[in-house]
Amino acid sequence: MEILDSPFGQFQLSRYPKRAKETLRAWDAADEFILNQINEENLLQNKESKVLIINDQFGALSVALNHYSPVVVSDSWLAHTGIKANLLNNDLPEENAEIRNSLDYPVGKFDLILLKVPKSLAMLEDQLISIRPLLSDNTRVIAGGMVKAIHTSTLKLFEKIIGPTKTSLAKKKARLIFPVCTNDGKEIVSPYPSGYTLENTCHEIINHAGVFSRDSLDIGTRFFLQHLPDEDKYQRIIDLGCGNGVVGLMAAERNPSAELTFVDESFMAVASASENFNAAFANTRTGSFLATDCLKGIEKNSADLILNNPPFHQQNVVGDFIALQMFREAKSVLKKGGEIWVIGNRHLGYHQRLKKLFGNCSTVASNKKFVILKAAKQ
Ligand SMILES: C[S@@+](CC[C@H](N)C(=O)[O-])C[C@H]1O[C@@H](n2cnc3c(N)ncnc32)[C@H](O)[C@@H]1O
Repeated sequence: MEILDSPFGQFQLSRYPKRAKETLRAWDAADEFILNQINEENLLQNKESKVLIINDQFGALSVALNHYSPVVVSDSWLAHTGIKANLLNNDLPEENAEIRNSLDYPVGKFDLILLKVPKSLAMLEDQLISIRPLLSDNTRVIAGGMVKAIHTSTLKLFEKIIGPTKTSLAKKKARLIFPVCTNDGKEIVSPYPSGYTLENTCHEIINHAGVFSRDSLDIGTRFFLQHLPDEDKYQRIIDLGCGNGVVGLMAAERNPSAELTFVDESFMAVASASENFNAAFANTRTGSFLATDCLKGIEKNSADLILNNPPFHQQNVVGDFIALQMFREAKSVLKKGGEIWVIGNRHLGYHQRLKKLFGNCSTVASNKKFVILKAAKQ
């Protein structure tokens, strides 16, 4: 665990979930820059100031500013859990931050709004539109991010939705963004959730702003849909890393007796999957929907089939470690004889990983780019 040394105190912070031999810190230079800026401008003189923090990753901002009881909005279950864990690590009560998901913004006006720039422009647009009603003439908004994540298109969104925008010079490869709130009274309607018709079906798929492949069906997912099992022999099917839930939805259609569970660490993904499944099956089928890390909270030996299009990154960190975590947890959640079906780019080498873990792995289908693999729990 490393110590964040901030003008608001020193705090022990870890990333979540904790990994052996972690090499990455739980905060970045943009977090430090934001905290120093608040201090230099003395923006929190008043202990009663209402503070809103958006996209804090593991609590660098929420834990450092916990004495102001900030409202914290994040789409990530891992961020929610990491922030709570880091409050506890510093002997601070969990209640010192009011943590909400990104479909549940608070109401009322805020004095200070801090926003870590998200990777997705759509998510940023949705967040800026969501904070407009929370701005008064005196609200100060400070956004921050690493230079590589801030583009002209990023600044244009601030200009369009909040008001005239300036940026700081870069410091340790981080930059701050200072939009000035101009209360022009105009209403901006969010274009999210947005949707598309799922090809070869009549399903209208809706996607909240932060969801994977929000504009159209991902090509890997399309290939997976073409090869989903349809023998109706699985009682409980889990769509692991469900995104908008199209994989589970089509699996439900082709396996009419199955019960479906949709899991993702993004609250917007889980909400999209729930809305899509319920629209497709109205009151005729019941699905369950859970925001969690991989399969945490799901009963061991309870699933017959797990369908998985694994992510290549967790927040900003790229790698196959989440896929491997998903495979390990799938093995524990599957019943004996239960199967995991995985789609991935051919070069990712999931075949060896599954074979090592399950003792077997076969190819269901492959094309130039993707391979669909299946392994059974013995
Ligand atoms: C490649 S996308 C697949 C989405 C969807 N199944 C599809 O095929 O269109 C991977 C999904 O995994 C989710 N994810 C990332 N990390 C996760 C974790 N630790 N636990 C659960 N889901 C996670 C992402 O939010 C994303 O929706």
